[in-house]
Amino acid sequence: MISQNTIQQILGRIDIIDIIGGFVKLKKRGANYLGLCPFHNEKTPSFTVSPSKEIYKCFGCGRSGNSISFLMEHEKYSYVDALKWLANRYNIEIEETFATDEQRQQMQAADSLYIINHFAQQFFTKMLFETEEGRDIGLSYLKERGFREEIIRKFQLGYSPEQKDAFVKEAIAQQYNTELLIRAGLVASRNDQLMDNYRGRIIFPVHNHSGKVLGFGARILKTNDKAPKYINSPENEIYIKSKILYGSYFARQAIDKADECLLVEGYTDVVSLHQAGIENVVASGGTSLTTDQLRLIKKYTNNLTIIYDGDAAGVKAALRGLDLALEEGLNVKLILIPDREDPDSYVNKLGATNFIQFVEKNKKDFILFQLEVALKDAGNDSRKKAEVVNRMAETISKINKAEDFTKQQDYVKQCSEILKIDEAGLHALVNQFIRDRISTLERKLPFEEAKHHEQNARQAEATNYDDATFNLLFKDELQEREVARILLEHGIKKWDETKLIAEHIFEEMVEESLIDNQDVTHLIVHFKRTLQLNRTTIDKNYFIYHTDTRISALAVALLNFPYEESERWRKEFSQASGYQKNLFEQDYDHFIKTIAPENEEKLMDYLKTDEDRTNEEVDSAINYLKLRKIKRMLLENQLDMEKQHNPEEYNILYQTHDHLKQMEIELTRKTGSVIIR
Ligand code: UTP
Ligand code: MN
Repeated sequence: MISQNTIQQILGRIDIIDIIGGFVKLKKRGANYLGLCPFHNEKTPSFTVSPSKEIYKCFGCGRSGNSISFLMEHEKYSYVDALKWLANRYNIEIEETFATDEQRQQMQAADSLYIINHFAQQFFTKMLFETEEGRDIGLSYLKERGFREEIIRKFQLGYSPEQKDAFVKEAIAQQYNTELLIRAGLVASRNDQLMDNYRGRIIFPVHNHSGKVLGFGARILKTNDKAPKYINSPENEIYIKSKILYGSYFARQAIDKADECLLVEGYTDVVSLHQAGIENVVASGGTSLTTDQLRLIKKYTNNLTIIYDGDAAGVKAALRGLDLALEEGLNVKLILIPDREDPDSYVNKLGATNFIQFVEKNKKDFILFQLEVALKDAGNDSRKKAEVVNRMAETISKINKAEDFTKQQDYVKQCSEILKIDEAGLHALVNQFIRDRISTLERKLPFEEAKHHEQNARQAEATNYDDATFNLLFKDELQEREVARILLEHGIKKWDETKLIAEHIFEEMVEESLIDNQDVTHLIVHFKRTLQLNRTTIDKNYFIYHTDTRISALAVALLNFPYEESERWRKEFSQASGYQKNLFEQDYDHFIKTIAPENEEKLMDYLKTDEDRTNEEVDSAINYLKLRKIKRMLLENQLDMEKQHNPEEYNILYQTHDHLKQMEIELTRKTGSVIIR
């Protein structure tokens, strides 16, 4: 774990304009900066960054946060990765606190492997471009295959010379550790002699999502031997095959933009498609997809399009990934490349434009494709046909129903038409599969994740974080505070003709269990009571100067929080009018009459826009709280499901799950966000 000391150092150095400015073009507007929101599509900028408050907020989609949450959301980093990224950016050495020595060793080994791989990548690239052998053999091979120099450089391809120890000599001279060189798979030890592992091969570095080299794929040049076509890095601390998608670093922005991820098999497919201008593409590396890889994809998009060879093996390989992908809630499409070609050779054959057209025209729905293949296979054999019906029902049952309610229905309809069977019958069969699965061992699988979350939560609880870190870690807590802030700032304004914003908030939060923070609960209870007793006494200062220090401390902390802009206007107007008292105590009409007339229009505008947004702000804050509550109930329900139950109890729990999931989706839609996962 990163030490508190380091975290404090990092937090102290963060410059939010510098950080966000690296991803979003920002323009200065008054005290703030404005840009196009990176989280939703917009033409006029509503993404606001406040340097003094170290926060951003988009008035379009409502997303807000600090530098760390920005990195977490925009770059899909974990909290720790975001901190590491920042540390690297500001040259802060990371001090780690370890639970065990073993962990420390593991981290150190991982770091060393990254360093060694970086060195190796540069060595191989140098060999490719700057040696005669590299140019004559490696580069000319790549060029012959149609790879242009810019794409070779972009993917940092390289060449490992035929000499048996060219790399290891250089590495030892640079004092790299032998054991680590072996563990990285770059070097092998034969009869006490160190030898290069990738001799005479083209090198494809494999990058992680932030561009660090995890390992290599090394392709043979001569087409003779019994030697394998590719040698890949062995599994080690950083090269974990099941979690790697080749090309993800170069593809992630394009995937985000296209809201679609293309999946191919090989290194060369990825590079060639890139060269053709198709950049939202990653490779699985010739093996069937793993759940971890699918989740990686899901961070960026729900739409997966598999492009495989059209031969039997290709189809089989593709189908193997289907069920898993459906379970992960991905929409899967398929494109088969004809004539024993692969995407790389086919794009070279057709040219970029025609290939893109081909892709658009030949995208097939994967489930219907599976049906097509199976039906063709079954022919007129009625027993085989019955098997097909069964298999389709099973496949459809794996669509994550909660994620897309109508999708399953649609498939039942389409498949029953193609199969020429009764829709209701197929439906019943699908449900049967769902029930069966739940009541067998498999029902445990989805809960592993819930358990994992719970463990994380426990671990976080057990760790002694200071306040700032805690808030960063648990963004939910920020949402609680946000509700409290709104209550203080706008509580006594009108929600509509019949009630105040405070009353609306209380109504919406029927149960106080929506709030965890004791101080916030305390404030709410107090607010309620005061409102009942004598509402005219309440204004902002009432809480700021409250004799109960628990309340006043919270009020001060909260009201300090955002809205640079309003603060600025407030100051300007109180100066213009010579009015020194707090705006919130004022009768607005009276206030406006007393200020300089030329400012009146500006103030009206400001007050208007501020008020226009208040109700939205209130709703958004409440929705977040509800969303968190639902997520918790989901977790509890899942843990409950994990225990032994009779089928009836289980059914009820499953329905509860379904219902909660629906509510979750609804709320997520309302908040327009996926912040809390
Ligand atoms: P392919 O045999 O289709 O190779 O294997 P390719 O990528 O099209 O390469 P070229 O075009 O013939 O040069 C697909 C993927 O399977 C993995 C690699 O990731 C490869 O890109 N593979 C294949 C191996 O890991 N080892 C092998 O021996 C062969
Ligand atoms: Mn190929």
